[in-house]
Amino acid sequence: MKKIGVLTSGGDSPGMNAAVMAVAKGAALHNMPLVGIKHGYNGLLRKSTSLADDMEELHLDTVLDIADRPGTYLRTARCREFLDPEWRQVAADTLRAMGIEGLVVIGGDGSFHGAEYLCKLGIPCIGIPGTIDNDLPYTEMTLGYDTAVNVCVDAVRAIRATSRSHDRPHVVEVMGRHCGDIALTTAVSTGAEIVLVPEVPWSVEETAKKLNRQLYKGNTRATIVVAEGCWESMEPFDMYTFLNSHGKRCYEGEPISASRFASIMKRMCNMIEVRSTVVGYTQRGAEPTARDSAFAFEAGTLAVDLLSKGVSNQVIGMRMGKVFYMSIDEALQEKRKFNRSLYDLVNSL
Ligand code: F6P
Repeated sequence: MKKIGVLTSGGDSPGMNAAVMAVAKGAALHNMPLVGIKHGYNGLLRKSTSLADDMEELHLDTVLDIADRPGTYLRTARCREFLDPEWRQVAADTLRAMGIEGLVVIGGDGSFHGAEYLCKLGIPCIGIPGTIDNDLPYTEMTLGYDTAVNVCVDAVRAIRATSRSHDRPHVVEVMGRHCGDIALTTAVSTGAEIVLVPEVPWSVEETAKKLNRQLYKGNTRATIVVAEGCWESMEPFDMYTFLNSHGKRCYEGEPISASRFASIMKRMCNMIEVRSTVVGYTQRGAEPTARDSAFAFEAGTLAVDLLSKGVSNQVIGMRMGKVFYMSIDEALQEKRKFNRSLYDLVNSL
């Protein structure tokens, strides 16, 4: 290959910059010029007035400094146009016109579907799983997941310290979209008493009973870690009637949230206070941990190596602690397995 490209797509994740740096090192090793495509797949759609807004030649000295920085130097976006075959053709044509013969796509599930489409249009692609959510079934870890978990663990430890001082239970919401892995690993790592995830149905009343059992045992600072997607698997509960009849104003149609859930727990458990914290974007914007940086390094260099050998349409992942690759199509068909026994263990103690 004469020239390759790299882009980051979807929600940013810690380690994306480190992966871009590793791709640049690999490209330099193989004497292949590298083009950084900006704003995810949008950079291929030729909507900008200036090419410099969409692409940048990446030299090693440009990217050496970005490896340990949070965020993504190339910027990122979710690109709705890629659902449309006409726009995908524009992207493939742009790559050909620029002489870019292979593409490294760093992103999550949606980004991999984009790469799969480009492969079908004859553009060799290699995917690196960049998302904090850990929701790609073919790999044990995604890039950024370890960092996100560490951010959540730090947050929960700090929250548990102040919760103990004030004898106040606390609801902590973490990210993960439809995946409860960040929540479960955070709960296990911090000794949190209750965890709620989208993968397992749960009820408000049962959770209040569990919290009451903790309070009865004298554990006044119990922590409930909730995945942001856990509301999807909540059994029906009339929050509006419950809160309004317990002196807390709530308007019909308002969605449940960590703070409303804390209000419900407070009232169901007759506590003086139950507080809540949403860890939020600090999970995505953190500096990558050594584990994520090391994965980024191996994945980035392997991606270029594969392209240089004419191997394409693959995604890189981690299995049994080792970096490996497999076909995009097969990877996207794998089914997620949630660690139900660990979940039950946390909630049963
Ligand atoms: O996919 C990563 C993620 O942070 C999810 O955990 C979260 O649901 C989503 O992105 C938020 O995306 P956005 O910042 O685009 O709203």
